[in-house]
Amino acid sequence: MKNLFLSLPFAAMALSAQAQQVNVIPQPVSVVAGKGICHFDCTHAAPVLQDECYGCITPATTIDTTLPHPDEYVLAITKKGVSIKAQSEAGVQYGRETLAQLQLQYGHHIPAMTITDWPRFEWRGLMLDCSRHFYTLEYLKKQVDILAHYKMNRLHLHLTDDQGWRIEIKRYPELTQQGAWREFNEQDSICLREYKDQPEFELDPRFIIHHEGKTLYGGYYTQEQLRDLVAYAEKKHVTIIPEIDMPGHTQAISALFPEFTATGEAKWGTVFSYPLSPAKEEVYTFLQNVLDEVMDIFPSHYIHIGADEVEKDTWKKSEACQALMKREGFETYEALQSYFVNRMHDYITSKGREMICWDDAIEGGDYKADDNAGALPSSTDIMYWRYWVGGVPQRVMEQGHHIIFTPGSPMYVAHSAPMYDVYHYDGFDKVPVEYEHLVRGGQVSLWAESMSNFRRADYCIYPRLVALSERLWTPADVMNWKSFKQRLDIEKLWLDAHDVRYAKTFATLNAMQQTDLEGQQMKVVFDSEFSDPDIRYTLDGSVPTASSLRYADEPICITKPVDMVAAIMIDGKAQEPMFRRHLEYHKAVGAKVEYTTRRWHESYKAAEVATFTDGKRGSLTGFGDGLWQGFTGSFEVIVDLGEAKDLSSFSMRFLQDIGPGVFMPGQVEVQLSADGTNYSDAITIKNDVPSDLRGCQLKDFETPLSTRAQYIKVNVRNTQGGFVFADEIVVK
Ligand code: ACM
Repeated sequence: MKNLFLSLPFAAMALSAQAQQVNVIPQPVSVVAGKGICHFDCTHAAPVLQDECYGCITPATTIDTTLPHPDEYVLAITKKGVSIKAQSEAGVQYGRETLAQLQLQYGHHIPAMTITDWPRFEWRGLMLDCSRHFYTLEYLKKQVDILAHYKMNRLHLHLTDDQGWRIEIKRYPELTQQGAWREFNEQDSICLREYKDQPEFELDPRFIIHHEGKTLYGGYYTQEQLRDLVAYAEKKHVTIIPEIDMPGHTQAISALFPEFTATGEAKWGTVFSYPLSPAKEEVYTFLQNVLDEVMDIFPSHYIHIGADEVEKDTWKKSEACQALMKREGFETYEALQSYFVNRMHDYITSKGREMICWDDAIEGGDYKADDNAGALPSSTDIMYWRYWVGGVPQRVMEQGHHIIFTPGSPMYVAHSAPMYDVYHYDGFDKVPVEYEHLVRGGQVSLWAESMSNFRRADYCIYPRLVALSERLWTPADVMNWKSFKQRLDIEKLWLDAHDVRYAKTFATLNAMQQTDLEGQQMKVVFDSEFSDPDIRYTLDGSVPTASSLRYADEPICITKPVDMVAAIMIDGKAQEPMFRRHLEYHKAVGAKVEYTTRRWHESYKAAEVATFTDGKRGSLTGFGDGLWQGFTGSFEVIVDLGEAKDLSSFSMRFLQDIGPGVFMPGQVEVQLSADGTNYSDAITIKNDVPSDLRGCQLKDFETPLSTRAQYIKVNVRNTQGGFVFADEIVVK
């Protein structure tokens, strides 16, 4: 470790905890300043080697199981010394981590204070996909160190997938002898191609071998290595959760045992690989044998079996699957998948463990509905990831499952969701009170298709994981983004000292647009991941310069139409991506909207009845951005402007994205009325965007008006049969 204190010239200078932010991440529940300062002796350390002294504070520790919260600790720093009282051994460690961060802030002279602290959630984790790309055991241990430093406690390892089997199974040595190695696949080729211009894409050369004339990529962990990892993590109160993905994502198995799929072939289907067959007893025998060894290596109470993204076409072709469905009375292939999952559940629970599945597994049936044949037992824990499917957490919890949150946006960190989104993810806060006991917590997950080496992995995980640590530990009303960014500036020294290659250049500008109905204006608030950003903006559509208006941490109020462009400035230059938006408080903002025929699709409800008149326009960011409202048929709405107004134009925006089946409406009809009863003849606005035009397309269906009216009836015809996505009716 590098010398941390030497990088902190101001350490030991700030000597009062009063009115001073303690640089602890995650922010403790309670910090109460005491009187005086605790001075630490460093008698056996030479003055310059102050970090040797760093380890020499040995607080008195006691376990007190009567403390009210699991893993609670009380760190008391007085003039006379330091003590930690904790509810558990893990709590003692959390107290020590807090003390270490205070030492980083204050050096050997820590102001007296009492910190009382405990985690909000029990599951605070990171998932690493070791199959798509491989990481050394040392790298996994380092993740354990970092997790422990931020008081996180779960490392979930995705150990098997189509692209490689990474765990030694003694009964089936071919799984690693052959299944851990592959010739360069499409993902490797992409990384190799990118590497030509971007060295960060280098395919880790330690995992490339030459064997019998072939170049192979791969690697695996021996059982001995994994036991070593488990023991290492246990000392730091981190549990390693193994995931063996099944019955899909199993080409590493089926390549060796093609007889395990429904057709006897190890092939790739339309989107995913052929899954294992739920109608073959030898599949269960094999998987149970594998799980026996897995459970022997990993003492974790939780065993993850994946159960995500199972392409069931081969099951549809299989007589054995049909016969099984008939026997069990299943009407859907999702219910047939539940049969498989149920059998694995019974096996895993018979060994005293608890099973986790990805949330796809709940699609087989519902205890509360009539179709309960394929329901999962509530003792299966569900990992929530399909963020674009509406209502998943609610359905999971209604079924009595415990839930772990890792929604693809923002928790899949191979994607580019800003750290801001991770810090502010509010899914936890929206859980109804009656289900709160079912929330285990959350994790960030790193899928490794493009994570060709550990530096790229670091770059994607950090510092977002640091933000998550606070989200999962600290009560929502104690969290503070601004102070977090300042504390993170200090923590980056710790990350540097531990050679973590975190992302340093987040010039992403976060913009929040609010509609102020009372003040009849738009308000825009900016934020970024820098603790003290220089944000400049213009209102005439031009690119900001160093002399443009500076954003001053207060909402910008817009009463007249403007074309706003805002950016973070670095060295006097506006950074991309800039915020570019036409802002206008038009005549329909805040108007009441009545849906007369159908409502939105549950998965794409946006802001429900407020969507079309909230002053925020859906944009090319796509139909999943929370602004667009989705419909699977034609629909009609009536906009009530509240009073008769002179109108000069109408427009309504739609989005086309034909890949996922999102089309423009065939036409939009507009009728106007003064009294809400008698409407004018319809003005028809036809679509002119070809229905085979690929890519994300926007169209404003618009028409001039020259009339006075209070009510606008809008009839939208869905003529393609897929989805129609609409947002913002703009009336001038
Ligand atoms: C997943 O991302 N397929 C769980």
